[in-house]
Amino acid sequence: MEVVHKPVLLKESVKLLTENNGKIYVDCTLGLGGHAKEILKQRKDIFLIEIDKDEEAIQIAKENLKEFEGRFVIYKADFRDVDLVLQEEGVEKVDGFLFDLGTSMLQLKSERGFSFQIDAPLDMRMDKEQTLTAYKVVNQYSERELVRIIKEYGEEKFAKKIARAIVQRRKKKPIETTGELVEVILSAVPEPYKHGRIHPATKTFLAIRIEVNKELESLKEALYKTPDYLNPKGRLVVISFHSLEDRIVKHFMKEKEKEGVLRILTKKPIIPSEEEVKENPASRSAKLRAAERV
Ligand SMILES: C[S@@+](CC[C@H](N)C(=O)[O-])C[C@H]1O[C@@H](n2cnc3c(N)ncnc32)[C@H](O)[C@@H]1O
Repeated sequence: MEVVHKPVLLKESVKLLTENNGKIYVDCTLGLGGHAKEILKQRKDIFLIEIDKDEEAIQIAKENLKEFEGRFVIYKADFRDVDLVLQEEGVEKVDGFLFDLGTSMLQLKSERGFSFQIDAPLDMRMDKEQTLTAYKVVNQYSERELVRIIKEYGEEKFAKKIARAIVQRRKKKPIETTGELVEVILSAVPEPYKHGRIHPATKTFLAIRIEVNKELESLKEALYKTPDYLNPKGRLVVISFHSLEDRIVKHFMKEKEKEGVLRILTKKPIIPSEEEVKENPASRSAKLRAAERV
């Protein structure tokens, strides 16, 4: 099955990244190469350093970027190690970093347990080489840890009830699949919550995914590394998909602006147009923030 991932805020993000006429950019979230392709199309002298920790995505992106052979390199790495990637590539300064956070359609539509709509083993790893899986979080974390994660990362008001139900259920038998987890969540939440705007499992699944992939820690670590590698007028462009990510990006940019290191280019975050959301509902929660190296 061919998977299509529609790049979000494509024109807006690529313009903000490349309008400084730079030559070397880092795309920290290659995915299927949607943004990468658009960046490489901007000018013939652009060289792109690509990072992703999903080997499967990298293989598909390579194929998608074939026509640009020789103008990009791909590293399978966590973007929190962006400094190591640049050292290995022998690059001291670059003209911009792009982060298009979250999961790709490839991951959401896979049998890797990212989606509560597809019954699959509880996995949720972007990087198949890491040892922490959703199975381990669900079956081995203490009730307290589960409450914390579901509340903090999922902003789920029924975190306590859900964590309790998980712990009760796993006493009888490990929870092995997304389907089983959905059933446990449904058994824990009050009836009216089942008829709300979003599926009752949405927030818990998001929380577990964030924990498995250490998404917030990676983002923070990576952001703080970027200014040292940016040329003057180098750009930092970040597309986030939920409030916790956006908060981290916003605070980071504000802090660096105060220090005189970055200048914020987006007073308010850029969000997708109605048209884009209609065409690609997955874009609806996207927020783009950009800053420039002073
Ligand atoms: C939203 S997708 C990117 C889509 C891409 N811009 C495109 O247009 O095809 C996010 C990608 O970032 C990767 N990713 C997320 N967190 C990462 C991290 N900490 N390190 C490396 N890659 C990461 C995921 O594996 C996924 O492929």
